[in-house]
Amino acid sequence: MSNGFDATRLANSATRALRAYDPGHDLPALRKHFGAQIAELGSNENPLGPSPRALEAMRNALKESFRYPDPRGLALKTALAEHLGVDVERIALGNGSHELLILLAQCFADAAHSIVYSQFGFAVFPIATAAAGAQPICVPALPHDHARAPYGHDLSTMLGAIHPDTRIVYLANPNNPTGTWFEDTALAEFLANASRDVLVVVDEAYHEYVDAPGLSSALRFSDEHPNLIVTRTFSKAYGLAGLRVGYLIAHASVVAVVERLRESFNVNNVALAGAEAALADGEHLQHSREFNNAEREWLRGKLESRGYRCLPSQTNFLMIDLGGDASALERRLFERGVIVRPMGGYGLPQTLRISIGSRDENERLLQALP
Ligand SMILES: Cc1ncc(COP(=O)(O)O)c(C=O)c1O
Repeated sequence: MSNGFDATRLANSATRALRAYDPGHDLPALRKHFGAQIAELGSNENPLGPSPRALEAMRNALKESFRYPDPRGLALKTALAEHLGVDVERIALGNGSHELLILLAQCFADAAHSIVYSQFGFAVFPIATAAAGAQPICVPALPHDHARAPYGHDLSTMLGAIHPDTRIVYLANPNNPTGTWFEDTALAEFLANASRDVLVVVDEAYHEYVDAPGLSSALRFSDEHPNLIVTRTFSKAYGLAGLRVGYLIAHASVVAVVERLRESFNVNNVALAGAEAALADGEHLQHSREFNNAEREWLRGKLESRGYRCLPSQTNFLMIDLGGDASALERRLFERGVIVRPMGGYGLPQTLRISIGSRDENERLLQALP
């Protein structure tokens, strides 16, 4: 009951400009409806699930649930520091990398600043910008028929879009929802020409799947460029999306600023234990990567042989471009229990984003397609 009261008008101006996250389909209800026949190909999760070692560690950590988690997450950060070969002071943990992307804008930008990102870049970038009250500079993406990265980031135009008041540039490499990427040489040139007073955030949520020649990680440039921030996650190749653990690697002074605003217990004790054990299970990660990359290229072959245009991808999903409105196709798949992600909200209504599922799910997708 509203009683004539509406708190919207009391919200601050940044929040008034935002809309609540659109969760898409009601997945719990769909799981009940379709049972084992559902193919969940909408959220870029790892169909192999978490490492058994992570499951075991999480079960043990449950016993400590009556305690607050370690607010510094030191055991996980130490393991990450060793894994990445960086000092522990250069790592911050997030409740998913989503939280960190938002925190960075909140900590470093406000109404006096602009933030640069690409059209068709990851959806959280404009939200982080709006939540900080900063001015968005959305740079047109590469054209749909670009040979290497259709709809991808146009780094040279993005560089030219940086203003004197720009505080942050968000780049996703590879990018969601396009799956496209840019090579290390392009990033090196971007960093060499960007002012040190602009924080360059490279979102590497899909890094573990990357095997393209010419692409390694932005981390290789972090010693030379203290304004570079890399974000990563345990949600994708590590198979822990439900746990919500992400991290960033940055100059220690960037981490120190983020720590001022980070909620002290943002990563719970089960998540800390699960992520640490997952990091130690290189075999499961390797298996996830090999399964995904082989399955993705198998699915690409099947789709292309049936006339669907698939964009290049270094991720655990494929974007298909129908050249015309994709909503009827999405509806058809949905009715058959195959859940994929329509892209109208991104301004790409002619495309669908399809996560790589188990072989069984991928076959159900192929059966459901006209
Ligand atoms: C490019 C990209 N960055 C970041 C995220 C956020 O991941 P999480 O908050 O689960 O770490 C996602 C999730 O889909 C993503 O696709």
